[in-house]
Amino acid sequence: MSTKADAGRMEKIVSLCKRRGFIFQASEIYGGLNGAWDYGPLGTELKRNLKDYWWRAMVRDRDDVVGLDGAILMNRAVWKASGHEETFTDPMVDCRTCKTRLRADQLAETRQCPVCGSKDLTEARAFNLMFPTFVGATADESSKTYLRPETAQSIFVQFKNVLEVSRKKLPFGIAQIGKAFRNEINPRNFTFRSREFEQMELEYFCRPEQGMPLLEYWKEERLRFYENIGIKRERLHVKTVPDEERAFYSKGTYDIEYEFPFGAQELEGVAYRTDYDLRQHQNASGKPLEYFDDETKERFLPHVVEPSAGVDRTVLALICEAYDEDSAPDDKGRMETRTVLRFHPRMAPVKCAVFPLLKNKPALVAKAREVQQLLRPHMNVFYDESGAIGRRYRRQDEIGTPFCVTVDFETLGEKSEELRDTVTLRERDSMKQQRVNMADLLRTVITSVT
Ligand code: GAP
Repeated sequence: MSTKADAGRMEKIVSLCKRRGFIFQASEIYGGLNGAWDYGPLGTELKRNLKDYWWRAMVRDRDDVVGLDGAILMNRAVWKASGHEETFTDPMVDCRTCKTRLRADQLAETRQCPVCGSKDLTEARAFNLMFPTFVGATADESSKTYLRPETAQSIFVQFKNVLEVSRKKLPFGIAQIGKAFRNEINPRNFTFRSREFEQMELEYFCRPEQGMPLLEYWKEERLRFYENIGIKRERLHVKTVPDEERAFYSKGTYDIEYEFPFGAQELEGVAYRTDYDLRQHQNASGKPLEYFDDETKERFLPHVVEPSAGVDRTVLALICEAYDEDSAPDDKGRMETRTVLRFHPRMAPVKCAVFPLLKNKPALVAKAREVQQLLRPHMNVFYDESGAIGRRYRRQDEIGTPFCVTVDFETLGEKSEELRDTVTLRERDSMKQQRVNMADLLRTVITSVT
């Protein structure tokens, strides 16, 4: 149940996202486009860190998963075979009074329009969420297809090619990160439900008897992943999707939910989809998609377990999880409210900020630039010389930079020869400062940001 305080927290998060350049409304100067968002400089870095870490955990660190980067446009036959053309729908009603379009399954039991309160609603009808488009110069049924509503289908369609080139044995997976599009009836909760978004999907192929145990395995792996990017376990919930809500072909599905300020909502689905997708495509295309087991000499369609996560939802969860307010001394030592994003250093858009104590001392500036160059090949570093040091710290706290390095007169060896080439390293959460040797700086910072 979300409260007024939660709504206030969400408002602050949305405002910070815009103010500091995480997320902007798409096409903002033209009044925006509902359900589309642009990521600003910091949002882009955060998103990239998330996708890179997913790729590392799901592909590079494993021997049993390979990648794919499929086209967004696919032959319409794919969407007929997968069932999307016929059944990828949400129930929609119209309010006859204010003309708002609503999702029937999201209406309260009173069946009232949440915008104007009217009860004069149409009957529910199925609305297909795929965006139709036309390929080539003619716009008719023969050239029609759709923007993909999930990345998964190119993995199924390319299953045989990837199997042949990778020479993998079951169980093995094919992973993909990419854009997906759904013409959601009601985009809402900031980026949570958008019309254009990104997915990180793994299709993990296996023998039929391995399906249920692998469903449990992947649920646990995925929970561990969220903890490794800084989301606390107590804010993650695993919902077992009941029979009546599950796709008819799925033998088991978990939703991994996160406690957003607007309520616990799905971040990722982990579904055991049996051999449904490969069977559909084999039947529709007439091309064999079976696997031959060298040891047992069996030929069969592999089953699949699919952990399917949303990039944008996870980015939003990372920001919500990180947002905090505490108090810290200002430049005159008086306590003030500090807004801080407590990102896991692995996810933080900027890993380290480097400051010369004063900007009008060329020796300090040159040394700070030297420190920046030392760190730059290994991480995203930000150089800032404007304003009092306290202000500079505060600006970095607000965007979640885990470390700040200050170069001062001691660094130059002006106070004592012993302190030459040492800098002040300040940690975001504890605000503790320590003096470290420039030679040790890279190791100290890098071990916590990778
Ligand atoms: N291939 C399976 C599949 O697409 P899904 O549960 O429909 O399953 C997977 O989508 C994930 O994609 C969701 O858990 C969510 O994180 C993300 N997602 C789905 N629709 C979205 C939307 N409209 N806006 C943002 N993310 C969305």
